[in-house]
Amino acid sequence: MRDAVAPSLAAWQPVLIAIASAASVNDNDGAHDLHHLHRVWTNAEALMAAGSGADADADPLIVMAACYLHDLVNLPKNHPERATASRLSAARAVAALAAAGFPAARLQAVAHAIEAHSFSAALPARTLEARLVQDADRLDGLGAIGLARLFYIAGQMGSALAHALDDRAYALDHIVVKLARLPALMQTAAGRALAGQRLARLLAFRDEFALEWGRAP
Ligand SMILES: [Fe+2]
Repeated sequence: MRDAVAPSLAAWQPVLIAIASAASVNDNDGAHDLHHLHRVWTNAEALMAAGSGADADADPLIVMAACYLHDLVNLPKNHPERATASRLSAARAVAALAAAGFPAARLQAVAHAIEAHSFSAALPARTLEARLVQDADRLDGLGAIGLARLFYIAGQMGSALAHALDDRAYALDHIVVKLARLPALMQTAAGRALAGQRLARLLAFRDEFALEWGRAP
């Protein structure tokens, strides 16, 4: 199937970017802008290239569509409706893709991958494509870029830099409260390996930070 759809990836990518850009919900959000969507797709490509066994046979068109459209509706972490955002994104994505002539037989698979990517929605990822998109999105929360996004989002929520274990009030605690759990929650072997490497960088930063914080007057 991969060979059959490969030529259409290049044709669909600009369409997906146009749909994501038209939604414009992420225009003033540097943690969830078009660069985030490109990185998630790049992560997913790397995971697919590294996949073996059961992880090797994803439909890349479904994965790419879900990567670019997974944050069409993006609510802040402290928004009461946050857990519904991925379902709303999936519904908007299906409508936009159908209007653009996306292969109808793949629409439900794209919708599921979008719905299941979200941590707060807590839906099981039932397909390989959904597992790949979930891992690819979570990888962007780890490593150097994950760290930059962490403090960017904390700034949006008005959180302090650090203190005790409460990741809504204190940005640094997000590393221990959530991010340190991500490698074990990865759905693919390649995702688990990459997440472990990126988490190690985050924890090294956290150690440096704690050292300086401890010295602060
Ligand atoms: Fe995302």
